[in-house]
Amino acid sequence: SVSAGIAFAQADYPTSPVTIVVPFAAGGPTDTVTRLIAEPMSAELGQQVIVQNVAGAGGTLAGTQVANAPADGYQILMHHIGMSTAPTLYPDLAYNPLEDFEMIGLVTNVPMTVIARKDFEPNTFEELVTYVQENADSVTYANAGIGAASHLCGLLFMSAIDTQVTTVPYQGTGPAMTDLLGGQVDFMCDQTTNTTGQITSGEVKGYAVTTPDRLDALPDLPTTAEAGLEEFQVGVWHGLYAPAGTPPEVIEKLTAALQTALQDENVITRFAELGTVPVSLEEATPEAHEAYLAEQIDLWAPIIEAAGEMAQ
Ligand code: MLT
Repeated sequence: SVSAGIAFAQADYPTSPVTIVVPFAAGGPTDTVTRLIAEPMSAELGQQVIVQNVAGAGGTLAGTQVANAPADGYQILMHHIGMSTAPTLYPDLAYNPLEDFEMIGLVTNVPMTVIARKDFEPNTFEELVTYVQENADSVTYANAGIGAASHLCGLLFMSAIDTQVTTVPYQGTGPAMTDLLGGQVDFMCDQTTNTTGQITSGEVKGYAVTTPDRLDALPDLPTTAEAGLEEFQVGVWHGLYAPAGTPPEVIEKLTAALQTALQDENVITRFAELGTVPVSLEEATPEAHEAYLAEQIDLWAPIIEAAGEMAQ
């Protein structure tokens, strides 16, 4: 019968490669986190795990694609904090993050850093604030589009210092970093996964971390609170999603693969080097993921509305 066939297919899952869709360009922080966990996930699932970059519209293009994909576990989505900010930023968003997906589990917590091209004039976070306020007409800020973490971070920063500068959108902070290194854009706020190496080597200027405490990976960088802007704080988090209606047996296997990846030695080592924090195994579950997503949607909606910038 058809239902016996479906049950058999679920028991056998996966019988072909699994694709993880990344909503930003290759080489950026979300891509890096995904490629690091894809290898041990693949070993656990016994199938190839393919990473597909579907950049655009601040991550919402990929969200729309996976929300509409077959609910069979062969196409899943890695997304970050943008999953919780998009409903506020895009009143006509094509998906409901809580209703159109099954949660697989949370993946990381990632601090953000405020950085600039290395010859940008200000040398400290305090100097940056003054410089941006005094040169608002000429300063440029890179982000990965409305809905990106770099967009949210910039929005909070500009709101905190009551100054709006020109934003330059990219398909991800991977290509934004390339332009920052080339001096085509002045500053940005991006996840440590993408910035730790460049700050440490001095190829970009690091001003501050947006977390309550300093980071082991970047011990010399003050927190935004130490630097005088305690209300300017934001942490990025990642989660894995499958289309709504994906069978529970399939979700269970994906959650197990995620948990295996988070315990993988190479993943643990690379995450630590990149200042990227894996979640606990209790958080790498559908239940914890769903609760956290709901909480984050409620947290960010009024903050974004108060900061006063909408997608349209
Ligand atoms: C990326 O992977 O390019 C970033 O996560 C984009 C962002 O959200 O700033």
